[in-house]
Amino acid sequence: ASTLGASAAASGRYFGTAVAASHLGEAQYASTLDTEFNAVTPENEMKWDATESTQGVFTYSAADQIVAHAQAQNMKIRGHTLVWYSQLPGWVSGLSASALQSAMDNHITSLMTHYKGKIYAWDVVNEAFQDGGSGARRSSPFQDKLGDGYIEHAFRTARAADPNAKLCYNDYNIDGINAKSTAVYNMVKDFKARGVPIDCVGFQGHFNSASPMTSDYQANLQRFADLGVDVQITELDVAGSGTAQADSYTKVVQACMAIQRCTGITVWGITDKYSWRSSDTPLLFDGNYSKKPSYTAVLNAL
Ligand code: XIL
Repeated sequence: ASTLGASAAASGRYFGTAVAASHLGEAQYASTLDTEFNAVTPENEMKWDATESTQGVFTYSAADQIVAHAQAQNMKIRGHTLVWYSQLPGWVSGLSASALQSAMDNHITSLMTHYKGKIYAWDVVNEAFQDGGSGARRSSPFQDKLGDGYIEHAFRTARAADPNAKLCYNDYNIDGINAKSTAVYNMVKDFKARGVPIDCVGFQGHFNSASPMTSDYQANLQRFADLGVDVQITELDVAGSGTAQADSYTKVVQACMAIQRCTGITVWGITDKYSWRSSDTPLLFDGNYSKKPSYTAVLNAL
């Protein structure tokens, strides 16, 4: 096939991109999106600070724009993200434990109810583990006030709100086999053993020279798939240019294609000019929407 989405679809997968509502009015942005991709993730529009900046007052307009666009194009939608320490409004950290528990439940239920039936997979909890060798949980209002159980509570609440959405745990620096990914692995294994509802793990895939893709990448995705969850590459971008960047993309896509339960890949933006780290030129299209060697590498590997 001649586009990323159609090529991925040939093996039953999707190929998505992060999208910003503010760019949908740019003709080349929208036409590249519609031509090449068959899935979207709102880059910021579904985050807590965007949807509930004041407690109990929900704002869906920007996210609704992306959802409407995606539905009109028959694209899958990943919901990102319900419970995360970042892009969290200040009022959340001021709550008592019991009020925080209610606020978390209300946030999950409100968003998932608003988008019920429209979301393929939700990143229910994002980035809950620390970097480095400890395998410990990251400090956050949720962790610090509610304890380890907040994650499973979030997943149970999410399942009740939209039983048809896949429920994912999503994180970065868990792409290879390391202490952090093993801590997540142990959590997922425990959830599966105890019947806590979890369907997928998202591997963000933000690669650069400080955190490169490693040779155990495929083995790591496979060990999670073997636990009985889908695996998805959720925020892929690779710093660099030319052949080196293209080769990294090839390896990532080949790893997903080799794993039956790797259901799709999402790159974290369409064009380098709007990337969250644009100086790394990490995407598949340059600032003029020209296809880069990384684009061709991905298309050939799908
Ligand atoms: C980033 C967005 O791309 C930026 O626009 C925003 O300023 C910060 O967040 N991990 C995630 C994403 O799960 O939500 C982050 O997105 C990138 C890192």
